[in-house]
Order: sequence, then C-alpha cells, then structure tokens
Amino acid sequence: MKDIAVIVLAAGLGTRMKSKAVKVLHPLAGRPMLLHTLANVMALKPEKVVAVLGHQSKDVAKVLPDGVMTALQKEQLGTAHAAMTGLKKLTGFTGTVVVVAGDTPLLGTDTFRMLLERHRLARAEVSLLTARLTDPTGYGRIIRDEAGVSRIVEHKDANDFERAIDEVNAGTYCFEAGALKAALKRVKSDNVQEEFYLTDVVEITRARGGRVLGVETDRPEEALGINSRADLAKAEKTVRGWINRKLMDAGVTMTDPDTTYIGPDVVIGRDTIIQPGNHISGDTVIGEGCMLLPGNIISGSVIKDGVTIKGYSVLTDAVVETGAAVGPFAHIRPGSSIGQDARVGNFVELKKTSLGDGAKASHLSYLGDAEIGRDVNVGAGTITCNYDGYGKFKTVIEDCVFVGSDTQFVAPVRVGRGAVIAAGSTVTQDVPEDALAISRTAQTNKPGWAGRRRAIKEKKGKK
Ligand code: UD1
Ligand code: CA
Repeated sequence: MKDIAVIVLAAGLGTRMKSKAVKVLHPLAGRPMLLHTLANVMALKPEKVVAVLGHQSKDVAKVLPDGVMTALQKEQLGTAHAAMTGLKKLTGFTGTVVVVAGDTPLLGTDTFRMLLERHRLARAEVSLLTARLTDPTGYGRIIRDEAGVSRIVEHKDANDFERAIDEVNAGTYCFEAGALKAALKRVKSDNVQEEFYLTDVVEITRARGGRVLGVETDRPEEALGINSRADLAKAEKTVRGWINRKLMDAGVTMTDPDTTYIGPDVVIGRDTIIQPGNHISGDTVIGEGCMLLPGNIISGSVIKDGVTIKGYSVLTDAVVETGAAVGPFAHIRPGSSIGQDARVGNFVELKKTSLGDGAKASHLSYLGDAEIGRDVNVGAGTITCNYDGYGKFKTVIEDCVFVGSDTQFVAPVRVGRGAVIAAGSTVTQDVPEDALAISRTAQTNKPGWAGRRRAIKEKKGKK
C-alpha cells in the first residue's frame, strides 16, 4: 500500500516475562514473536518499516528480515518516546504511520488492512484498533463520547468505573505523520508509571479538535498482548488452534487437536490421520493418507503418501518414501532416507543412512553412514561400526542382501548383491556378490558337561 510507513515498538525488556532474553525474541509457534508481527505488517507492502530496538538490540537486529530499518531507543521512557524514536527515521514522510506493538503477534494482516481502510475512509488523524475482552485487566481502556474516542486510560491509572469498561486498546494505531509528530511533542509523563504514553496522543489530538476513530476488531482473540509467560502460553494455544483448524478444513483428521502440535510452515495432505501427542515442526511435508500414531516428534522431514509412523518415533531432516512404515520407538536422524514400502521397526536408529525400497530393519539396530540397497533384510541387533574414535566410515550393503541377526559391520566395508551374512558375524572385509560370510568361532558341544556340573554343585550344597 502506498503512503504507509510502519513503526514496530520492540525496545522493552519485558520485565513481567522474568527472562534473561528480551520479550520480542521469545518464540511463538517456533519463531520469535516479533517476526509474526513483522510478517503480518510487511504483507501490507509499506514504503518503510522501522523497528524500535533497545534491550539486546544486537540480538533482535539479527533476526530482522531484510528491508526493516532500526531505531535505537537507549532508555525506555514509554511507548510515546519509542514512537518518537521511530519517527525520527521517517523524516520527509508525510503519509500514514502505522504503529504496532512488538508484543501483539496475533494481529493479522487483514486486521491491519481493515484498520487502515477505515482510517482512510473516515479521513481521521488518529485511528486505533480496539477489542472487547472478557478479561480486560492490564490493558488501556477506551473512553468514548459522541465524537469518537476521547481518551485512553491505562489500567494502572484507571478508577473502578473506568476499569469496568471492557473495550481495550489493542496497541495498534494509524496516525497521519504530521499529527503524530505534533502530538508526541506534547506528551507528558504525569502518570502512575511516570512514562510517556503513546495513548495520550488521543487526548492531545482531540483537544486540538482532531478526529480520533476507534475501530473495534471482530477478532478479539488477536488482540492478546504478551506480557507474561502465561500470555505466551495462551497465544501458543490460539495459534495452534488456527493451524489445526486450517489443516482439518483442508482434509486432515486429528483425533485430538488440543494435543497436536504443528508448526506454521508444515504441509499435510488429505486423509492423513494424526493421533494425539504428535509434534510436527519446521518445513516438514507429509503426504496424503498417512497414519501417525501417538507421540512422534517430526521436524524438517519429507514423508510421502501412505506412510505409517507407529508412535513414539523421532524423525529429524529425514525422507520417508511412499508406503513405508517407521517405529514404534524409531530414531531417524538427519540425512536418512527410507525407501518405498520399507520397514523400520522398534529401537532402530538411522543416521545418514539410506534404506532401499522394500528393505527391512525391524528390530534393535544402529545403522549409521550406511547405504543399504533394496529388499535387504537387516536382522535384529545389527550394528554398523562407523566410528573408530577419529573418523566416520561408510558401510555399503547392495540389493537383496540378507543380514543375519547380531551382525557388526566394521566400516569401511562393502557387501555385494545377494550375499548372506551369517548371524552373529563381525564383518571386517568386503563380501563378494552371492557369497556367504560367516565370522564366528565354530561351536563345540561337550556332551554331558552340564549334567556333571549340576551333580557336583548339588552335592556341595547338601553339606
Ligand atoms: C500498551 C498500551 C495499552 C494497550 C496495550 C496493548 C501504552 C501506554 N499502553 O500497554 O494501552 O492496551 O499496550 O497490548 O502504550 N516499548 C518500547 N519502548 C518503551 C516502552 C515500550 O519499545 O519505552 C514497547 C515494548 O517493548 C512493547 C510495546 O512497546 O513491545 C508495548 O509496551 P508494554 O510495556 O508492553 O505496554 P503495555 O503496558 O502492554
Ligand atoms: Ca504489552
């Protein structure tokens, strides 16, 4: 939108968070809360965006998207002082200045756009977003008269009558640049908190005969300001609800959305069923018709159609091809891929390992730095010994190999196509195609030995 500049107020520490980290960097749905606000205002395509930083400004500056200017508010003297600090970066700008708090990450682009449109339509000098809340505690209250909003009174400064008002200031405003600049110069700090309140601009503008428009949102849940960890948890729950609702509307089944945690960038196909306690994050893409049993933690992974994840499995930066089954209790670590219709069973760990189509590793194995072909059977308890204390080495197992249980592959080693490894072998040399590799001490049976031993022991016991 033309003639629009945005100032985001993000200089405060957020004392009520009781944190070493500055409030706006606390993550919401996996990303710093400030980035939600920035993404939502930047979607309006403003001419300029200024972030007012103060506490830990270097850390905050690092996460800012391209195109955001910064203004340093060295001392946090209040929201009016912060707005003034931001405004100094907008010299020569004569359009509409949108001021947003950095701690209201749920306010969406549509809401900002609605406020702007109403502001322009009414040709107001100041417009502010309001919300009716069942519990308005802590927020600034909106005092209205026939001409619009006459004043905002902060909770701490309000009397009982004012505190009973349920219409609150959402902390988002549209100002005509000139009017804002003039009014900010007149803000005083004669209030309970001894701060320069941006909200005083309302009264100052009205005293001059200016028009102040209060626009009530029909999405009051978006107005949540995050001041404490409890607020953050509430925001997290709201965002989770939105994400899950959108996925369900698009054809995903969730047996218990309240305990299903899905990141904002995750994509999930239709007819996939997600049971309780799944955590899916990052840029994970899940196909259609998958079944996720309870308790999986999946991040940065690609899961194709018709895959079953059997519960309590952890998959990180992995690829699972169509029709495969993983888990329960599998650990699929970065750089691993599981082929079409392959099976990875309980207590199997894969790291930087590719398992071919139709291959099976059903029980109790560690497969690291391995390339395993199609239709290979990896017996229970197989271990690739990929590390010698200094470097990592690769195991290659070609197609259709049968690996007996309790085998160790001492890497680097290669097993040729169709070979069989006898159970209990330690494989230290390459195995040719179609060969049998067996490396274990030949068994000797001593007839009657156990019986004789038992007789001796029992005789001793009687004494
Ligand atoms: C503010 C509003 C209140 C509104 C509420 C909505 C004022 C005086 N009050 O109260 O009417 O209902 O937001 O959530 O504006 N900040 C700075 N520099 C400062 C002070 C604050 O950058 O000197 C930033 C903070 O980092 C924060 C934002 O401004 O992101 C809001 O400040 P905060 O102290 O949280 O204001 P509230 O008391 O919530
Ligand atoms: Ca706040």
